[in-house]
Amino acid sequence: MISSPSAGLKGTFRVPGDKSISHRSIMLGSLANGITEVSGFLEADDALATLSAFEQMGVKIERIETGKLRIHGVGLHGLKAPQNTLDVGNSGTSMRLLSGILAGQQFDSVLTGDRSLTKRPMRRVLDPLSLMGANVESTALGTSPLKIKGKTELTGIHYEMPMGSAQVKSCLMLAGLYAAGTTTIEEPAVTRDHTERMLRGFGYPVSTNKNVVSLEGGGALTATSIDVPGDISSAAFFMVAALITPNSEITLEHIGINPTRTGIIDILLKMGADIYLDNERLVGGEKVADIHVKSSQLIGIQVPEDLVALAIDEFPVIFIAAAYAKGTTVVTGAEELRVKESDRIQAMVDGLQSLGVNIEGTSDGAVIKGGLVQPGSIESFDDHRIAMAFAVAGLNAEGTVTVNNCENVSTSFPGFVELATDCGFKLKAQ
Ligand code: S3P
Repeated sequence: MISSPSAGLKGTFRVPGDKSISHRSIMLGSLANGITEVSGFLEADDALATLSAFEQMGVKIERIETGKLRIHGVGLHGLKAPQNTLDVGNSGTSMRLLSGILAGQQFDSVLTGDRSLTKRPMRRVLDPLSLMGANVESTALGTSPLKIKGKTELTGIHYEMPMGSAQVKSCLMLAGLYAAGTTTIEEPAVTRDHTERMLRGFGYPVSTNKNVVSLEGGGALTATSIDVPGDISSAAFFMVAALITPNSEITLEHIGINPTRTGIIDILLKMGADIYLDNERLVGGEKVADIHVKSSQLIGIQVPEDLVALAIDEFPVIFIAAAYAKGTTVVTGAEELRVKESDRIQAMVDGLQSLGVNIEGTSDGAVIKGGLVQPGSIESFDDHRIAMAFAVAGLNAEGTVTVNNCENVSTSFPGFVELATDCGFKLKAQ
């Protein structure tokens, strides 16, 4: 993608559906009894990888129109053995959540992914799954392919998670559906709670108390309908874009504002952003709002550590906001960024340094001094969010920013270039 300075962003837009909720709608819809209708589903590679995995396990999923699905649930015990290895591409959410479901099945299965996903750490799910009695094998490095043996008896555990991760928490909750007794998970910091909310939406009791979640195995899910809101993680690119580009005023409609996801708004408000929300409403157990954003002179801040887990996917674009801010922004407590689709601290440090920005990486974050952003060419490391963040960086730079290897933008944001162009980005895909 080649991103050039823009004269301003204007208009009212919708971004594609929430990725986390889309994955879970397929998983829980497939495991429910009855037909689940989904609208607003994210038709992007990651969520489609989950969809394909369940089709390969015998679930009928009708594609009614774009974003509209009808899932013929097979019940918790109705999945069939897949004929082949389940390849979930770039999608960490598919692999980690599916490993919890597959550990509870009567058949063996193998999960694999692309060159990024097969490097990502899987012991974080395998260790607690083994404590529950699951039989899952990884490579010697603790990476996929994962070989999951069926016909194992799972037992509920009380697990204190060493890191804040909604994927690990969700994996264990899903395994907990198949386990005898109670599965309790204690998180070091609250992470996104879409699994908890959606399980309740399917009539499955889940109890939560701050950072502790627990459920009993052996229940059943009852089909429901799901309206997936716009993904706040995708909206974040447009929020920062409008803030750093003079003469901008945009509205992002129907965005999910689940309180475990709104760290980006709190961080940008602390940086002096002109953002306000209206038309707040509840859609299928998830809060939704329209987000209005105007150009603003941002200021550097120390990002509060308690907001890190609530904005974990937004740091690439928060680093861009910091590069345009007056003063210094300090990010700490964000070591999880090093094990995302790429090492996002290193990817942002490399990219911003090549655009002349004064940034220093630390083990768990970075120190970014705002200033002029020079033209240059950067590497996305095949990471969708790094690519989109640098497309935003070009909007008010001293020249053109070229972003290499952007194919993976389609894993979370199909139509990004088109929507960005409609909004006023000067963005070309090559
Ligand atoms: C996700 C959880 C987060 C996030 C990912 C989606 C989820 O990962 O980065 O994009 O849907 O549960 P971690 O659990 O690794 O923090």
